[in-house]
Amino acid sequence: MKMPVRTAIFPVAGMGTRFLPATKATPKELLPVIDTPLIQYAIDEAQAAGIERMVFVSHPSKTAIERHVMDDAKLRAELKARGKPQLAEELQETALCPRRDDVVFTMQDEPLGLGHAVLCARDHVLPGPVAVILPDDLILGTGCLGEMVDAYAGSPMGHLVATMTVPREETSKYGILSVKTATDRVLAASGMVEKPQPEAAPSCEAVVGRYVLDASVFDDLESQAPGAGGEIQLTDAIATGAARVGLGGFRFSGMRFDCGSKAGMLRATLHLAAQDAELASVISDFIGEERKGLAA
Ligand code: UTP
Repeated sequence: MKMPVRTAIFPVAGMGTRFLPATKATPKELLPVIDTPLIQYAIDEAQAAGIERMVFVSHPSKTAIERHVMDDAKLRAELKARGKPQLAEELQETALCPRRDDVVFTMQDEPLGLGHAVLCARDHVLPGPVAVILPDDLILGTGCLGEMVDAYAGSPMGHLVATMTVPREETSKYGILSVKTATDRVLAASGMVEKPQPEAAPSCEAVVGRYVLDASVFDDLESQAPGAGGEIQLTDAIATGAARVGLGGFRFSGMRFDCGSKAGMLRATLHLAAQDAELASVISDFIGEERKGLAA
């Protein structure tokens, strides 16, 4: 019987260079899709998956993340005093509160890679396997982590990573699984390769930012030499553990947007706007006006 997944790690210490200058003072994880910051979608997903403890691995320059995540009683009191109790209540509902929620903030003083960020959480996790959520991979629809936690309980694999099929010409943007066998939603893999060129890619099954990992990943990270870009790569540590604990890919059912890129952020914004009556009409008006402009 496997131990339950009780902890989610949120690595949020990166520099967000692809979004400069927006990320000079505002952490990438606080950039909003419509009106909700990326980190909030990730927290909501972890809560829906039944996660008990959330560990945020942040950077000393990114204190705004903690300010967003945690309850702000002073701001709520101010809103109430100004006749906006509804707004105060909404803020309280989405915020985490130390009395009710099990939340840890720890620092990665230098962005030495995703693997290193996960290792920084080691002393703060509860016993058993851990989940890792990358907030800039926005997955809408059925909660991806919840699906993975359920699949993990019934699978023999120690490491389970979220995967999706990508066009072969795009393999160099992702970690790619070496697939052994595939059932409906779970793929058994022998390993994974970081950003292979299309001709060298072992499959087209790309890993995206949700992981459920056997706790031994921390030992593998500790002994991991720096990989691509001189950073300690999570992919390398997962590949190291694959032979020992088993590695699976999980085909999630939601829609994934790469909000670490401008194109992905725009797609996510348009996707959500199209589902909102008022915003959808803004899009159609805009397209109509652009067409007229092009025809003129
Ligand atoms: P990314 O590689 O997408 O983020 O890491 P980045 O490095 O901040 O962005 P760019 O490439 O420079 O634009 C995915 C997640 O891992 C975190 C990031 O904050 C992001 O949430 N991360 C990355 C860390 O916490 N520490 C690191 O050393 C690197």
